[in-house]
Parts: sequence; C-alpha cells; structure tokens
Amino acid sequence: MQPADRRTTLPPYRIKVVEPIPFLTADERRAALADAGYNPFNLRADQITIDLLSDSGTGATSTLQEAAAALGDESYAGARSWFRFRDEIRDLTGYPHVLPVHQGRAGERILFGDLLKPGQISISNTHFDTTHANVVLAGAQAVNLPCAAATDLDDDAPFKGDIDLDALERTLTGPDGHRVGVVLMTITNNGLGAQPVSMANLTAVRDLCRRFDVPFFLDAARFAENAWLVSQREEAYRDKTPREIARAAFDLADGCVISLKKDGLSAIGGVIGLRDEARYAACEANLIATEGFSTYGGLAGHDLERLAQGVREVLEPAYLRSRAASTARLARLLADAGVATVAPAGIHALYLNAGRLLPHLAPHQFPGHALGCQLFLDGGIRCAELGSLYLGGLDDAHQLVTPAPFELVRLAIPRRVYTDAHLEYVAEVLADIAKDPQRVGGYRIVSAPPLLRHFKVRLAPA
Ligand code: F0G
Repeated sequence: MQPADRRTTLPPYRIKVVEPIPFLTADERRAALADAGYNPFNLRADQITIDLLSDSGTGATSTLQEAAAALGDESYAGARSWFRFRDEIRDLTGYPHVLPVHQGRAGERILFGDLLKPGQISISNTHFDTTHANVVLAGAQAVNLPCAAATDLDDDAPFKGDIDLDALERTLTGPDGHRVGVVLMTITNNGLGAQPVSMANLTAVRDLCRRFDVPFFLDAARFAENAWLVSQREEAYRDKTPREIARAAFDLADGCVISLKKDGLSAIGGVIGLRDEARYAACEANLIATEGFSTYGGLAGHDLERLAQGVREVLEPAYLRSRAASTARLARLLADAGVATVAPAGIHALYLNAGRLLPHLAPHQFPGHALGCQLFLDGGIRCAELGSLYLGGLDDAHQLVTPAPFELVRLAIPRRVYTDAHLEYVAEVLADIAKDPQRVGGYRIVSAPPLLRHFKVRLAPA
C-alpha cells in the first residue's frame, strides 16, 4: 500500500483501554475444538485468539460513549437518557415515532406482529436469518429477490445488494401481489456478501411500493456502512456526507428496524422508527408488554447514552473511510495469497469462497465448515460457515441431500477492535492453508437439532 493511502485511511482514534487475547498451543486448540463437537459456537471465547464470528455487539466504545454512559439516567419512565436517544434517532432518520428495543430481532418481532398478517408475504433483497424467522413466526412467508449479479461471487458490480426490480414488479402485479405485506430492504445485504444497496434501487423500490400501496421498510443494521459505500460508488452521491446519504435512505421508507449492535457502536440495543401513528400505537402496546416501558424498551439508561453517541460517531467520514480501507486491504492480502472472497469487498465482513479453495471436499464434507475449523486449529481464529452446513437440506440421518448454492465462510470484522496487524495475521494463516489445501479434511454431522441447526450441531472429522 502506498504511504499516501495510509495518510488518508489511518484510523481516527488511538487505543486507551486494552483487553488481553489468549494464545493457546496447537494441542490445546485441537482439544478445545474436539470438546466443542467441532462447532465454533460451542467454543469458549477465552479459547480464541482472533474472534471474527460476528460484528454484532463486539465493537469497541469511545471515550465520549463511556463518558455519556456515566451520565445514564436509570429512571423507570421518562429518563433523560431516553430523550437524548430519541432525539438522536429522530435527527438521524426523520421518523417521528421511535421505539427502543434490546436488539434487532426484538424489533422485528414487534414490527412484524403489526405489519404482517398470516398468509402475507415479506419481500426482501435478502432477509437476515432472524428476520426470516420472525416473518415466519408472524404466520407470513419470506421471499428473497436479490439482483442477478449477487449470485456471481466474482462479479465486482458496485451494488450487488440491490433487489431485482423486475422480479419485484412481477410479484406485485402477479397472482400473489395482494398478499405482499411489506418490502424490506436490508442495508447492507449481510446474507449475500455484505454488499451495499444503491440509492437508485431504494428509490425505485419506494416508487413501486407507492404504486401498489405496500409498506416499505428498511432493515438498517449497517446504515452507515451502506451510506459510505454509496458515497464511494454512486455518482449522484459523491458530494454528499454519509449522514446525508443515510438520511436520504430513511426518507424513502415508511419506517425501519435497526439492530444497533452494529452501526450503533454498542454491545446491545435496537430501535424501530415509524411514520404512521396507528402502527406506532400498536407496536408500543406490544413493546410495553414484552420489552419494557416505551422510554427504555429493555435497555438501561447507560445503553441509551452509548447508543445516542454511537449513532453520531459512526457516520464520521474518517472512521468509515479507515474501516472500509482496512477490510479492502485484507481482501487484497487474501487475493494475493490465492484466497478468493466475494467481490467486491464490503465493510463489515469478508466472505471466503471455501468451495473454490478446497475443491477436493464435496459439499457433504462441508468445505466451509472445514475451512473455519482449520482457521481455528492453525491460528485460533473463529468465524462462521455460510454454506451447506448452515443452509443445506439434510435427511433424517443428517446426510446432506440439497447442498447450499455456495460454500462460504464469513470473516466478520468487529468495529474498532482489531488493527491491521491482527488482520495481517489472519491473512497469513489463510495463506498457509492456501499453500497446501489438501491437508484440510472434511467433516460429518454427528447430531443436529431440527431448528437453527448451526448453533447446536455437533460434528466429527470425516
Ligand atoms: N438484521 C441484520 C441485517 C442482521 O445482520 C442482524 C444480526 C439482525 C437483523 C438481528 O439483529 O442480532 O441485534 O437481534 N446480525 C448478527 C450477525 C447476529 O452476526 O450478522 P440482532
């Protein structure tokens, strides 16, 4: 990388509080993984050197966030911290009605409880897995309509998070059109490679939703990262700030649900934003019954303070630029080592193409899972498989019958936690695997629960 690059992509902070990370021996890692039934979700976090399992709730807070947290008002109702949080969310989104929730999926449950009736359809560029589950729990059906480029992992089109507009229009005009209860756009598209959604696509979705009188909502967990990628990739938005772009996206929709564990730069939190008064009243009643009073919604006053400060900090261009550059740099190091990732690089995660790196493993040997296990065995690195173990169809004997379309592994990058030195280490461990991929063996399933398999499945080397 050129020195000039470094001057403009330097992280705009220094580290004040640090946490030691564990280094186990190779023997200890082997024993830990066997004890965990070869499922990284069963590992203890203190057995992990670099934890890339999720970017959710795993970020570092700032001095200003911790100073604000010390001022947290823990009053049951009407706390000062609530008003600060509410005003920040209103200022960010423009939505008059704000409901705090303890995390994104609680917001999904409450929103879909009002928005979706049994038999209806939710259409998305891609529903995140909990979002999908909450659509189903509301008695509705989740339909994903990603754009064509999204399914070509090597295509470096700028907005592979876009929805397929023709398919959306066909659904709205077709026999199932009357069943569509919501169009929900996930920004950025976490389920399909951390790819951003263009403002042009969001605008076209808004127009279609207006024409067919269908509510349009955003799942805006990574609203700041999507705004940054729009500012870099969409001509009409080059001169706009990330804050202006984020606001323009919220302006297009009828409301949003946000997991603030990502771009809220905090360990916990979420929010529902709404324009409609009647919908707000219905969601508020559910919130009070299940999350907490509507001025805290399952969060402590100190959480609301960290979040209010976090949603402001996260839109600082210098922060977003350095985070995007750090992920892109890791993608380049991996490409140089012959490790393919879903192109182009997004921000919150890189998705390794394990199917390509380990062609000697068939889908029923779970190449993505095998690569994830090898990263732990070789380097104490934890990550998540997004391939046939997660998405494939199994028979009663836990044999894979329908493989997933791709064998991917997600390296999720916590915010402000790991330096480029840590990510270089990850690249080195992967480069060593790429030099001799044949040594990576496959796995077989020993036991699997019927639901949410990846969390509790146990495996063994095949
Ligand atoms: N929507 C998206 C796009 C998400 O990525 C997540 C969580 C949620 C909703 C649910 O939010 O966890 O606060 O309840 N994603 C995490 C991840 C878990 O690792 O990608 P939550």
